Amino acid sequence: MTATNLYSTTPLFNKTLKNRFVLAPLTRGRAGSERVPNQIMGDYYEQRASAGLIITEATHISKEAIGWIDSPGIYNNKQVAGWKAVVDRVHAAQSTIMLQLWHMGRASHSDFHDGDLPLSASAIKIEGDQIHTPYGKKDFEVPREMSIDDIKRTVADYKKAAENAKDAGFDGVEIHAANGYLINQFLDGESNKRTDEYGGSIDNRLRFLKEIVSAIKEVFDAANIGVRISPNGVYNSMGCDDYRELFSELTRYLESEKIGVLHVMDGLAFGFHERGEPMTLGDFRSLFSGKIIGNCGYTFESATSAVATKQADMIAFGRPYITNPDLPQRYKNDWPLTPFDDMSHWYGGGAEGYSDYPAFDNNH
Ligand SMILES: Cc1cc2nc3c(=O)[nH]c(=O)nc-3n(C[C@H](O)[C@H](O)[C@H](O)COP(=O)(O)O)c2cc1C
Repeated sequence: MTATNLYSTTPLFNKTLKNRFVLAPLTRGRAGSERVPNQIMGDYYEQRASAGLIITEATHISKEAIGWIDSPGIYNNKQVAGWKAVVDRVHAAQSTIMLQLWHMGRASHSDFHDGDLPLSASAIKIEGDQIHTPYGKKDFEVPREMSIDDIKRTVADYKKAAENAKDAGFDGVEIHAANGYLINQFLDGESNKRTDEYGGSIDNRLRFLKEIVSAIKEVFDAANIGVRISPNGVYNSMGCDDYRELFSELTRYLESEKIGVLHVMDGLAFGFHERGEPMTLGDFRSLFSGKIIGNCGYTFESATSAVATKQADMIAFGRPYITNPDLPQRYKNDWPLTPFDDMSHWYGGGAEGYSDYPAFDNNH
């Protein structure tokens, strides 16, 4: 019997995924100031339907959730229609697609909110970094601590965004709880110093995520919901001493809710908080029986090994997929990869450096 590899099919969402490659969520800033998915975004995603599963770029659940230039939303009808056109093209190309739901919290700036401060678990700012606003690069600000009303409204925004995603035809949604954005700001004991039922103990810090999961379960089956975490990540001033207990408890909760997909950025390529030993996929595999997606810095070899040893069911590739829309075929045939270290077209602009990377032409 051959070992499971990246080209083995796998069941998900009552479908059979054609392989175990996942297009990692990649913010590319092509949606314009109206934040509506457009033709070139459809081109880009259709080209990358070589992956069995596509996770879209992070997508704002509300206006309050914004904090990036020209990233898409899912809070109005135009955006739903724009996404529907993208989803239809991905489905026609025989792939599967989840929408990543995003609220940036304190990783935003008042320049995006008519002068109102961004929201977070506590009034604690991101240290030592800057943000690109529509008016230039600025220091992060001390956010406004969310009231209970703010929390309830935001949970309702997540639910509405999930309903919109369903209307657009998405197979599922991924709750973005990674990379120091709002949900991560509630989870992390350094950014969350609340003294109410949303702060302090691990149970309390998990409460905001749990309320979001419960709300979205009223829209999608648990099996069609994913959660993305970055237990080792330092980006946006993340990292707390009890991260192992925190992320283990989070995983136990997702298991008890029968959540379908746990997406773990286990690799350290995007920075490590160094609060202890890095968490590995094995830490999650022992607690979670749904699908596990591994990510961050994977090569073809390390991805193949993670799938063969069943540490992960699928592997998400980010940067390699930016320039290689036919990544599974390139690896399979040992065709050369187009280099992906040039960041100049990562964020913003048009088709150039985005939807103009061709599949490999083996006849030349
Ligand atoms: C240009 C760019 C945009 C990204 N946007 C997102 C995003 O919208 N949501 C998210 O969860 N991660 C985002 N990430 C992180 C990637 O999903 C992925 O974790 C990272 O690129 C590491 O995987 P890789 O080594 O395969 O590139 C982004 C990374 C890059 C390079």
